[in-house]
Amino acid sequence: MDPLLSEWLNLIVRWFHVIAGIMWIGSSLFFIWLENHLVKGPDAKPGEEGEVMMVHGGGYWHVVKRKLQPGALPEPLHWFMWEAYATWLSGFSLLMVVYYLGGKAFLVDPAIADISGAVAIAIGIGSLVVSWLFYDTLWASPLGEKTKLSASLTALYLLGITYVLTHVFTGRAAYIHVGAIIGTMMVGNVWARIIPGQRKIVAAVKAGLAYDPAPGLKARMRSRHNNYFTYPVVFIMISNHFPSTYGNEWNWVILGVLMVAAALVKHFMNISETFKAWLPASLATGAAAVLAMYIITAPRPPAAGAATANIAAGSHGAMVSHATVTPVHFAEAQAIIKQRCTTCHAAKPTDDTFTVAPAGMRLDTPELIQANAGRIKMQAVDTKTMPFANKTGITEAERQTLGRWIDSGAKLD
Ligand code: HEC
Repeated sequence: MDPLLSEWLNLIVRWFHVIAGIMWIGSSLFFIWLENHLVKGPDAKPGEEGEVMMVHGGGYWHVVKRKLQPGALPEPLHWFMWEAYATWLSGFSLLMVVYYLGGKAFLVDPAIADISGAVAIAIGIGSLVVSWLFYDTLWASPLGEKTKLSASLTALYLLGITYVLTHVFTGRAAYIHVGAIIGTMMVGNVWARIIPGQRKIVAAVKAGLAYDPAPGLKARMRSRHNNYFTYPVVFIMISNHFPSTYGNEWNWVILGVLMVAAALVKHFMNISETFKAWLPASLATGAAAVLAMYIITAPRPPAAGAATANIAAGSHGAMVSHATVTPVHFAEAQAIIKQRCTTCHAAKPTDDTFTVAPAGMRLDTPELIQANAGRIKMQAVDTKTMPFANKTGITEAERQTLGRWIDSGAKLD
C-alpha cells in the first residue's frame, strides 16, 4: 500500500480505537467503582441494593442500584455495548492496517520462524478464534463454577499462547496478538454473555414476569473478568514503545509476569475499596514485578560465543565490562549503519516496504547517528529488535562493534 495512505489510515483508525477504548474501559472502571461504593441506608426501598452520591461538573449525582419491578421498564434505558464493539472493530482494523496489509514485514522474523505472510496471518486470526472458544467454553462449562481453577486455567492458557506466539512472530507482533486475544475475550464477554444476559432480564421485566437472576449473575462474573483484563491489556497496547520487553529473549516470561502483576494490582485495588489496608500491598506487588523485570531486561555482556565471533570478524578483544571496552572508530560504526540501517532509516529509504524513514528515525548523517546513539544501542545491540526482522542481515559481531562505539562515548572522530 502507498505509505502515505497507510500512515493516514493508521492514524485515523488508531485515533478512533483509542477514543473507543477510553470510553469502554472508562465506563467499565466507573461501574466497578460505583458498585464498590454503594451504600445501603436504613430507608432503602425494597429492591434497592444501594446508592451513591457524587459531585461532578457543577451538580450532584444520585445513583441508585435497584432491581427492576416486573412490568416497570424505564424509558429511555441506556445500554453500554457500542463502546466495546467499536473498540474491537477498530482494533481489528488496526491489526489489519499495521500487520496484515503489510504482508510479513511486521509479523515474521525468519530467525524466529520462517513462515509465509499468509500463514502468519492465518495464525494471527486463528489465535483469536481458538482463544475465545477455549475461554468461553471453559467458563460456560460446569468447570466455570470452580472459579479458582478456571482462573488458573485461563492464566495458564494465556501464558501458553504467549509462548507460542513469541516463537512464531516478531516480539512486537506477538505481544499485540496477545493483547488482541484478551481484547477479543473481553468483547466476546460483552457480546455473547453480558448483553444477552441483560436482554433476558429486561425482556422478563417488560413482560411483567419475575426474572431468573442466574443470567444476571453470570453476566456479572464476565464483567469481573473484563475488569481484571483491563490493566494487562492496556500495557500490551502500549508495549510497542518498549523494545526492552518484547525484544528480550525471555519476552514471553516478561509479558506473563507483567500480566499477572497487573491483574493482581487490579485485584488489590478492587478489594482495597472495602479493605483499605490492601492498597500498599497492591503498590508493592506492582513495584516488585516491575523492578524484577527491570533487572531481567538489563543488558548482559555477550556470551563467550559472541566474543569469539568478534575476534573472528577482526574486531579486537573480547568484551568483559565497560572498563575494558576497546574504543571503536566512528568510521567503523558508520559503515555498519550505512549497510544495515539506512536502507530504511534515511531521508529517501531504498527499502521496498519502508519508503519513508520508520518512526521518523533517520540515521544518514554522523550527527543523527550520534544523537540517536542511545536508541541505536537499545534497538540494535541490547534487544536486537533492529534491523527490522533483521532484513539487512546484521551479524552479532557488528552489533557488538556498534555497542562498543556507543559504550566508549559515541564520538565522531
Ligand atoms: C527494513 C527496515 C529497517 C531497517 C533495515 C532498520 N530499521 Fe529501525 N525501524 C524500522 C521500523 C519499521 C521502525 C518502527 C518500529 C515501530 O513502529 O515501532 C524502526 C524504528 C527504529 C528506531 C526507533 C524506535 C523508537 O524509539 O521509536 C530505531 C532507534 C531504529 N529503528 C534503529 C535501527 C538501527 C540502529 C538499524 C540498523 C542496525 C535499523 N533500525 C534498521 C525499520 C528498519
